[in-house]
Amino acid sequence: MSRSPLGIVLAAGLGTRMRSQTPKVMHSAAGRPLLAWILGTLAEVGARPVVVLSRESEPARALLNGEATFAMQDPPRGTGDAVRVALESVKDARGEALIVYGDTPLVRAETLRALIALRAERSAVLAILSGEVGADNAYGRIVRNASGDVARIVEARLATTTEKALAESNLGAYAADLEWLRGAVTRLRANETGEIFLTDLVALAVGDGRRVAAHLVADPQEGRGVNTRVELATAEQALYQRIRERHMLAGVTFHDPASSFVGADVELAPDVVIERGSLLEGKTRVGSGTRIGPYSVLRDTTVGENCKAEMSVLEGATLEDDCRIGPFGHLRPGAYLERGVEMGNYGEVKAARLGAGTKMHHFGYVGDASVGKRVNIGAGTITMNYTAKRTKERTEIGDDAFIGSDSLLRAPVRVGNRSITGGGSVVTKDVPDDTVAVGVPARAIKKNQPKQKA
Ligand code: UD1
Ligand code: CA
Repeated sequence: MSRSPLGIVLAAGLGTRMRSQTPKVMHSAAGRPLLAWILGTLAEVGARPVVVLSRESEPARALLNGEATFAMQDPPRGTGDAVRVALESVKDARGEALIVYGDTPLVRAETLRALIALRAERSAVLAILSGEVGADNAYGRIVRNASGDVARIVEARLATTTEKALAESNLGAYAADLEWLRGAVTRLRANETGEIFLTDLVALAVGDGRRVAAHLVADPQEGRGVNTRVELATAEQALYQRIRERHMLAGVTFHDPASSFVGADVELAPDVVIERGSLLEGKTRVGSGTRIGPYSVLRDTTVGENCKAEMSVLEGATLEDDCRIGPFGHLRPGAYLERGVEMGNYGEVKAARLGAGTKMHHFGYVGDASVGKRVNIGAGTITMNYTAKRTKERTEIGDDAFIGSDSLLRAPVRVGNRSITGGGSVVTKDVPDDTVAVGVPARAIKKNQPKQKA
């Protein structure tokens, strides 16, 4: 019977090289904090996570959502000490331990599974993840003995020139026999740097006559640790590339993929087209047949099927099917476009609902409003929602109304169903249904007689 492994995440380090007030593991890459990436990977493997934090990285506790236990390492005295602290907080855990670093967001779930499998296959107490990352890097080097078995890991900063020339490096993920690990971590000692290195476990195991295995990954990028903001940017690029590839394989077209960025939690239906230079963030969802871009930004926005959003910014908005916005449209939180709404250049909509088939083809502002179906909103229409008393008031426009160009609607106000406002009118009082109102301030001049449809 195999129990789910214990997933130990080391996130107590100071992250000094980031030069930041924010703990390293809280820096975000492709829409998620670094720590959330590795926790997601552990969840895929089915590991029960325990996260090691310190006083400096304690704010990262907010990311755990009560789903992971955490242990306090105070002060952080090295990665070996961090694992000892983690194990003290889960005294009853047995079986397999997976140790990962909070700053390696690129390691894949299948790789961690392979690491566990390799350890079992070799009857090793420890399996480490290695990769050939190229010369002159900061990773620990894997030193093998004459018969090719792993003998120890030496940190780059402590390595001799010959050791530093070794191609195989420690990518920083470990599978270990938990019983053995419990005893071993208490035997690790601080070295000349004053730190207790987890990597010294290798020599310790070998000294005990136990077996250590190394899983050499084909794609060493998986082990990329984030220590500086340069490495953060590199890791983020790689994560974005993976996300794009996932969507492409699921049926999404990207034109010039490297120019667009889709966050980790964005959902795209098959046959979505992402034109170049677009940014999709947060809890954004896009329906089938919709084209986004070129050059659009969508944040926490839901878009239906067969829509188009060109050179526009959509934040906290909802669009039903067959809507079109842009170029240069701006939807702000609470904007809701019903089916078939068309918004052209320089339109801004905030906290307002536009009914099905409504058209706002040219510049204008509609805020704190509800607009009926099939309304025509003329160029330059403005809802004056912000009053002299500094309150926000609502504007209502009925179905089939026609708002003339350059109309100012002073809220609170209502324009009735099938009513018309003249060009340049300033509407300060309600306009009843079926009425034409013109002037400054607007007054009703006649009934609106809709043309009979043939
Ligand atoms: C570490 C490895 C190195 C490997 C590299 C891969 C050690 C000694 N070295 O080096 O062999 O090639 O990762 O990315 O392990 N942490 C704690 N408590 C501490 C110190 C660190 O929780 O007392 C955490 C950090 O928050 C970080 C992780 O452990 O998430 C790794 O620490 P870091 O200082 O970044 O190690 P590296 O120098 O990158
Ligand atoms: Ca690191």
